[in-house]
Order: sequence, then C-alpha cells, then structure tokens
Amino acid sequence: MRVALLTGGGDCPGLNAVIYAAVKKGIQTYGDEFIGFLNGWRGVLDNNWIPLTLEKIDGIQLKGGTILHSSRTNVKKIPGGIEKVQEVLKQNKIDALIALGGDDTQSVTLFLSEHGVPSVGVPKTIDNDINGTDATFGYDTAVSIATEAIDRIHTTADSHNRVVVVEVMGRDAGWIAYAAGIAGGAHVVLVPEQEIDIDHVCALLKYNYDHGKHYGVVVVAEGCHLPEVGQVLGSQEVDSFGHVRLSGIGEALADLIEKKTGFETRSVNLGHTQRGGVPTAYDRLLGQRYGLHAIDMVHQGKWGRIAVLRGTEITDITIKEAISTNRRLSESFFSVIRDLEAKV
Ligand code: F6P
Repeated sequence: MRVALLTGGGDCPGLNAVIYAAVKKGIQTYGDEFIGFLNGWRGVLDNNWIPLTLEKIDGIQLKGGTILHSSRTNVKKIPGGIEKVQEVLKQNKIDALIALGGDDTQSVTLFLSEHGVPSVGVPKTIDNDINGTDATFGYDTAVSIATEAIDRIHTTADSHNRVVVVEVMGRDAGWIAYAAGIAGGAHVVLVPEQEIDIDHVCALLKYNYDHGKHYGVVVVAEGCHLPEVGQVLGSQEVDSFGHVRLSGIGEALADLIEKKTGFETRSVNLGHTQRGGVPTAYDRLLGQRYGLHAIDMVHQGKWGRIAVLRGTEITDITIKEAISTNRRLSESFFSVIRDLEAKV
C-alpha cells in the first residue's frame, strides 16, 4: 500500500517514535511505501510532502519534535478543503492516511473518513486528556520536565523566603499539574477541573510560614479559572479550531497571593519547554507501540478508528468516541491532592 502520515496540532515528544515504528513495520512487514505530508493538514492542501524511507527515519525515535513539522489547519473550515484533500491523495496514489494529533486534528480525520478517505488516527497531546486512552505519549516527558523545574523552584524559593507559582500546560484537564505537582512536592496544586478557592490557597501557604517553612510552591494549570476573572488569556486571537491562547494565570495568581498574604510571590511559566526536547524512555516506547498498531489498523481497514492504550495493551476505538469529550481528573485524583496537602 502507499501510505501517508502527517502530524497536526501542538508538537509532542514521541511523534517521531510513532512515525518510525509505523514506517519501519510498514516497509519491512507489509512492503508499503510511505510519504509524509509536511505541516499537518496544511501540507495535504498544499501537496507538500517528503518520501519516508528507512534511511529517512533512521534514529528519529530518539528525537523530540516532529520531522514532519506541524500546524493547526482546520480542513473543515476551508471552502473546497475536503475536495482538495481528496484530489491530492488521489494524485499521489495514497491508499491510506495515518494522522497523528489531538482532538482537533482527529476531528478532521473523522470528517475525512466519513467522506470516503481511508484514514486512521493516533492520539497525541502532552495534556493527556484524550478520551478512551489511558495515556498519550508526550505526557510522561512533560511531567518529567515540569517535575524537574519544580524541584529547582523549591531551592530558590526557600533561599529567598518566597512563594513561587509555577504555571504548567493543561487547557481542559490538570493531568500535568496533578502529576508534576505531587511528584515535585508542591504545597498547592490547582487543576482546571476544580474551582480555585483563593482563601484555601492562602491558608495552605500561611501554614508553611507558621510551621517554620518560609516559602511555598504552587503549581497551577494554564486552564484554571481565577475567581472573578475566569481563564487568563495570552492573547485575544483564536486558532482555526476556535481555541483561545491561554497563558498568564501563574502571574495573575501570584499577584493575588502577594496581595492577600503579604508574602513576596513570583511566578514562572514553563510553557513550551514542557513540549520540547527528547522524549522519555516511556514515551519512546509508547509512541512506537502506537505506530506499530496504526500500521496494522491500516492493513485491517479500520478506517475512522484511533489507536488507544487500555491498561497495558494497545487497541483501538472509534475516533468519534475519542473526540466526544475530554478525559479529565476525577474524584480519586482530587483526593490524592487533598490528602497530601497541609490540613488547615
Ligand atoms: O498541545 C496542547 C497544548 O500543549 C496546550 O496545553 C496549550 O494550551 C497549547 O498546546 C499551546 O500550544 P501552542 O502555543 O503551540 O498553540
């Protein structure tokens, strides 16, 4: 078969591992030929692609980012977009498409597969919030990077007797804040699934000071709602999927904490460092397992389906189910946060 791959949305450590494994098994086991469209769906519309050979993918499973580059392009919103995609795929004699991306990218994959384009998906996001899968690759790397950063914040916050608010990614779900916050020993962990109780936050920080520890570390997910303010936006622009750019809740929260407690408070936004660099061993392995499953899905004609991790096994579900909702933290995770914070 002649198979095309693309990567859409925000980049994510482990994308290259998926590409590597799908192409390697496709060529060695099935005798496939591969091309990679560049810049996500944009590359399909522009007929912009590179051949993916064994030489081209050699060693890429170790690397961060995506050799195919990425963009946020919403084919559904582009007049004639679907016809253009169909034309380009036909012109390049593509038998199947593997799209690596989060719910926005997969909404396009679903749309195309409903319009007769043989396509399958691989879930991607450092936010770890795709429905129906226990873990997305990239999440483990993001948590490791954030945890290391929080470790470092402890010593500088301690030296200066300060509170430091660390803002991490997580638009709709607080998986990174939860995991890195707990692993990094943060004194306060704030996730978008729960309303921020600013008095409780200040009480937790005061507890430290009253018990001889004159500093505090707060971890907040970018998607949290600040009381009376709501989400803090990095800009008013929306992307082609209608998403605003979130950024700045750490700074806003730091100001509020300083005003309410009188403690000198600073903020750090970890931003894109969480998505950059090499994937962890876990993500390299998970990515490759997803890639192997994706090429098997292609040869089984599982169009409109997406690879998922259930327990320890990789399987697949419909893309419709995967994008129907976000996977968010639930009560058992909230209780981990509650049980490990100070009793105030
Ligand atoms: O991939 C999801 C995500 O990491 C979100 O947590 C974040 O809001 C968004 O990407 C930011 O991506 P970009 O700055 O590339 O638009």
